[in-house]
Amino acid sequence: MGSIDVEARIIPTNKYLEFYKRSLEDGEKFWSEVASELVWFRTWDKVLEWDPPFAKWFVGGRLNASYNTVDRHVKGWRKNKAAIIWEGEPGDRRVLTYADLYREVNKFASVLLKLGVKTGDRVAIYMPMVPELPIAMLAAARIGATFTVVFSGFSSSALADRIRDSEAKVLITADGGYRRGRVIQLKEIADEALKNCPSIEHVVVYRRVGREIPMKEGRDHWWHELMKDAERYVEPVSLESTHPLYILYTSGTTGKPKGVVHSTGGYLVYVYATQRWVFDVRDDDVYWCTADIGWVTGHSYIVFGPLTNGVTSVMYEGAPDYPAPDRWWEIVERYGVTILYTTPTAIRALMKFGEEYPRRHDLSTLRLLGTVGEPINPAAWHWYYNVIGGGRCPIVDTWWQTETGGILISPAPNIGLVPLKPGSATFPLPGIEADVVDEQGKPAKLGEKGYLVIKRPWPGMLMTLYKDPERYKQVYWSRFPGIYYPGDYAMRDKDGYFWLLGRADEVLKVAGHRLGTIEIEDALISHPAVAEAAVAGRPDPVKGEAIIAFVTLKQGHKPSEELTKELREHVRRVIGPIATPEEIHFVSMLPKTRSGKIMRRVIKAVATGAEIGDVTTLEDEASVEEVKEAIKTLTRKQQ
Ligand code: WTA
Repeated sequence: MGSIDVEARIIPTNKYLEFYKRSLEDGEKFWSEVASELVWFRTWDKVLEWDPPFAKWFVGGRLNASYNTVDRHVKGWRKNKAAIIWEGEPGDRRVLTYADLYREVNKFASVLLKLGVKTGDRVAIYMPMVPELPIAMLAAARIGATFTVVFSGFSSSALADRIRDSEAKVLITADGGYRRGRVIQLKEIADEALKNCPSIEHVVVYRRVGREIPMKEGRDHWWHELMKDAERYVEPVSLESTHPLYILYTSGTTGKPKGVVHSTGGYLVYVYATQRWVFDVRDDDVYWCTADIGWVTGHSYIVFGPLTNGVTSVMYEGAPDYPAPDRWWEIVERYGVTILYTTPTAIRALMKFGEEYPRRHDLSTLRLLGTVGEPINPAAWHWYYNVIGGGRCPIVDTWWQTETGGILISPAPNIGLVPLKPGSATFPLPGIEADVVDEQGKPAKLGEKGYLVIKRPWPGMLMTLYKDPERYKQVYWSRFPGIYYPGDYAMRDKDGYFWLLGRADEVLKVAGHRLGTIEIEDALISHPAVAEAAVAGRPDPVKGEAIIAFVTLKQGHKPSEELTKELREHVRRVIGPIATPEEIHFVSMLPKTRSGKIMRRVIKAVATGAEIGDVTTLEDEASVEEVKEAIKTLTRKQQ
């Protein structure tokens, strides 16, 4: 483990620094104290078993995630406290207290048992943002089934890939969900996916919309029908701390999404603690994280973080600007939201509509704001701070990833708020030893761009990649041997503050959603007209990055507006609407190295208008000119 040199490199000395130093000096004691705030059926024998790069946290300890999120609160005064204040896009509302949640989770756990789900089985969930989504997750956790949630914006083939990889036995879905006034036909998409998923024995369908949908006799069951005969209580299974709580698929640098596996004990301890440190949650707060539960932010900071802390959360089903651009501000006012956690993309999108919309509402209940998912630009930061937060509310810019389980770098108001700098996530949280290194893995000089690394394990870290420990070692632990490599550029300024500077690999953040360039290329290539494809991100004023694709066509196919439309539609079908390319350029050749590898550096440079640099290994420099020409043509079109 590296040395603790924060003092020399950090100017702000306050409670944070003291707390941070203590957390690193005796890491095991520190995490052991944090962990004892949860309910364990059996205490651990060992805080950490570190067999690099595999970590086991709280070894020998036994617990249950649903017990820690619901049972524990119904045993005390929070029994009738609101756990979830839900609002549907059409305007319907529901409030679920901890007692309600407890009842529903128990009943649905009984449903899963009756369908033959056992501890260790996988359950897939493909649902809109309704309370039954967290209920399904907690019910699976109660009986020790590992769940995998698939974002409801993903296509049938993306869903099928994830079900096949996880070999889920049961799929939980709905007859639809509302998005910008339209109904997403989840059941039909699921049916399409299931044509090719032999592991699925049963499908449970929640009635959200009330429309006619196909139901397959013997395989498909209505949620409400099954719940009628459900038991009122199901004993929570006492699980090992290292029991996999969930698998969440995320994009990497190959076409195949990675199944990130999170543990029960380590993960729960980490999200419980970070929910407190960063969001400073108190019992009278109304906390709202606007993420979709289909992504990690929703798993950690809508479901497990808030519920282990007994917090009241707002959950909203639909689009931020539906039916009008003040929908979010209306919700903040209606429920008196005190803590708001969202993405820079959402802020930029809402900012474009103008101040008039937030000004229509009383936002004075807000006391803390947060962002996640991508770097925040100063203009968006200031708008969020002044217009939404009324100049009163600190902004916690939280850096983390699907793999890290919870927030690693962020201001921590509950520990001691350091002076904020717009665009900087400030400092690592307690127990997190972060640094910025150069190509060789040596600490980068202050002010110089390098790679972010994490130098010791932490409880929230992924255990492995599902069924692929080799890939886990290779992706995260081989770039700089022995230390965790997240794949982000970063820089520390002269005061030691961390600035996160975007991905250093082939991963895009489009509207905060994580996508692999190769996944999009594979989708394009699966179209019969496409020979080759190269995808890059171009900075976008609202979405952070926009997807730019260059394609070469097979013989007999010609570029046309129709083909452009068809290819965009094709990518939507293969991955989902979030992966739709903004621009598609037809070229006769892609820039390649002599060995035939596409020069992504060149594609990216051309797409972003940056300098191209050394092209001596290019097979045919003319194609660079071609890619440049394509960009020029487009720029002309836009003018
Ligand atoms: C990026 C989302 C700058 C980063 C929780 C990371 C950020 C990737 C920030 C993970 C931030 C996340 N500032 N960049 N505050 N937060 N990122 O797995 O590139 O969807 O590696 O997890 O988002 O994306 P993921």
